[in-house]
Amino acid sequence: MTVADRPVAGVIGWPVAHSLSPRLHRFWLDRAGIDGFYVPLPVAPGHAAAALAGLPALGLRGVNVTVPHKQAVFDALDRVTPVARRAGAVNTVTVADDGTLEGTNTDVAGFLGHLRQAAPVWRADAAPAVILGAGGAARAAAVALLDAGVARLVVVNRTVARAEALALALGDPRVAVAPWEGLAGALDGAGLLVNTTSLGMAGQPPLTPDLAPLAADAVVYDIVYVPLETPLLAAARARGLATVDGLGMLIHQGVPAFRAFFGAEAAADAATRAHLLAAL
Ligand code: ATR
Repeated sequence: MTVADRPVAGVIGWPVAHSLSPRLHRFWLDRAGIDGFYVPLPVAPGHAAAALAGLPALGLRGVNVTVPHKQAVFDALDRVTPVARRAGAVNTVTVADDGTLEGTNTDVAGFLGHLRQAAPVWRADAAPAVILGAGGAARAAAVALLDAGVARLVVVNRTVARAEALALALGDPRVAVAPWEGLAGALDGAGLLVNTTSLGMAGQPPLTPDLAPLAADAVVYDIVYVPLETPLLAAARARGLATVDGLGMLIHQGVPAFRAFFGAEAAADAATRAHLLAAL
């Protein structure tokens, strides 16, 4: 491998300094013995298309895309995968050999991969699933759960109109919507509760619904990972419910991105998790 061949990828976002992705990919590059780079690229709002247009000329293999660009990049791509269209968001862009750009979404697979790893007892068709929130993270989680085969999915959001818009975009008869005040009813007998809101994040109010109506073997999944154990997960654990935290989703979404950028396999394992935990 010549110096010119050393592969380079990165992450575009604003702000991007806090992103754990450079640390994640650095760890996997070192472990795979790949002499490459994964760099944070601060791209201000409104500049995502110009940044992507420059990727082939810069010789980058691709980039991950984070807040606030996940929707904005669509028009700057030559191809978008079906899963990214359904998720309404692109989090991974790869540069093909001919210099064209393809966008995909690995958050969907990352969400489900981590759920299956952390809560192997969970069965998609056993009981309804409930998603709190109606933003981009909620949509990725919803696509993943529908693909996994849930029989019923209830989206609960403070602004019910956003939940209705999400259900419309998903276009699936298994999706229902409930207002925030209807949360207790939605949780009745549910087998999975997913928080995709910012509630419970450091500096935000906690999310403390009554978990008693959930099924006895329910799983509670919080995509927030600062703190790693949110008040919601602590309450679930206190009830003896299986819990799934947000750090694993970040790791799992990185596996297919690493493959796309560097042509090598990465593993979402305990060593990777420990390496990220050390930075939290
Ligand atoms: P993302 O794309 O990361 O999912 P987002 O689009 O900003 O982020 O969505 C944030 C979610 O957290 C929304 O569902 C939001 O509810 P609204 O649609 O009503 O704004 C939810 N959220 C944020 N603060 C909240 C609060 N204090 N109470 C209830 N929900 C809240």
